[in-house]
Amino acid sequence: MKNSNTVCGSFGLSGRIKIPGDKSISHRAVMFGSIAGGVTRVSNFLESGDCLSTIGCFKALGVAIERKGCNVKIKGAGSFGLKAPRRVLDAGNSGTTTRLMLGILAGQPFSSKITGDASLRGRPMKRVTEPLRRMGAKITGKDGGNFAPLTVTGGKLSSINYRSKVASAQVKSCLLLAGLYAKGKTTVSEPQKSRDHTERMLVKFGVKLSVKGNKVSLRGGQRLKGTNIEVPGDISSAAFFLVAGSIVRGSKITLLNVGINPTRTGVLEVLKRMGANIRLKNMRGGKAEPSADITVEYAPLKGVTVGGSIIPRLIDEIPALAAAASSAKGKTIFRDIGELRVKESDRIKTVCSELAKFGVKTKELPDGMIIYGGAGLEAARTESYGDHRIAMMAAVLGQAVSGKTIISDTACIGTSFPGFFDLLRSLQKKR
Ligand code: S3P
Repeated sequence: MKNSNTVCGSFGLSGRIKIPGDKSISHRAVMFGSIAGGVTRVSNFLESGDCLSTIGCFKALGVAIERKGCNVKIKGAGSFGLKAPRRVLDAGNSGTTTRLMLGILAGQPFSSKITGDASLRGRPMKRVTEPLRRMGAKITGKDGGNFAPLTVTGGKLSSINYRSKVASAQVKSCLLLAGLYAKGKTTVSEPQKSRDHTERMLVKFGVKLSVKGNKVSLRGGQRLKGTNIEVPGDISSAAFFLVAGSIVRGSKITLLNVGINPTRTGVLEVLKRMGANIRLKNMRGGKAEPSADITVEYAPLKGVTVGGSIIPRLIDEIPALAAAASSAKGKTIFRDIGELRVKESDRIKTVCSELAKFGVKTKELPDGMIIYGGAGLEAARTESYGDHRIAMMAAVLGQAVSGKTIISDTACIGTSFPGFFDLLRSLQKKR
């Protein structure tokens, strides 16, 4: 399902918009609700391709899930109530669905097979299948279990004390979920702290866990109790509008109810360092998942260096930040972003290749990139490579240049942000 979109240089973006629900939190609400006892109700669920893949997988495992738009009701099957699926589980384009589900499937006393689209089948899974095997799961798949399709035969797991080489919420969450089915205490530590939605939400489902710095531990055998989850807006989706508002002259946009979990707000810090005019109001949500209304106004930006422990806190926002860097004065250096090579596309390569089409000078590094901003940008014909965030990066930059930018293969935006172009259009000032 490929298509293309045309965007025109804008004379300013203005208005108040509601950003769709957070993708990471929506996935987890369905997963945890499915293995909990009792009913879980989710509001502001993200109706995107990725999250619908998660619902589809749990339905195939016998869970009763009703969805009316962004309201979802899950009749939890309990820890051991999932049924052996009669068909291959289809995770679509979603790495989160695949990696987190592998943790749950590893705890089930039956075999299941999980796969997805061509991009997903090229993404590394050893980071989860290797520790899951150590816990006792039997997993087979291409390249020794590194690529989907993967077949998992679970049950009878032992706990693990695992030091992950990568800061990855997907690895951490997968092992914590498997740890719920294992005997004893499972501990996962990571080099930098990744997003902590799993930890926060498991507590909401009644699980006891301990968090010390970058180390999380929980005891196996704990039962989850159904609860209500209100999903805040996704800061990763908001990021594209924060950048558009910052780089298009005459803009002022307010984004309502955006999640501001501190493990996700690196993008706000970097944009502010670049000189962006961003204000937060109406902070709410307390300990579970905080949110705020965010207002952004046009401001001239300058290049910065971004690297180190902030990277996991903005890992999905680098394409959006790259659009900001392209309009900024001076060079922006991204370091320590090797993980971008194994996202929905090789994002170091695709960011650089697509920015070059707008006339931006870039330099690709093995685990980083340099963007030389501020030089006369021009409208472009760009490709998404099936990567939603590469398509949105081009759409945002296309707002800041005169003329028509054509982006091909934009259907992928539906994996995380259905309605993106409609929202963008709704903000465009009339000439
Ligand atoms: C996610 C974790 C991150 C992120 C992805 C969503 C999650 O991936 O890039 O979009 O929901 O746990 P990694 O764990 O691979 O860094």
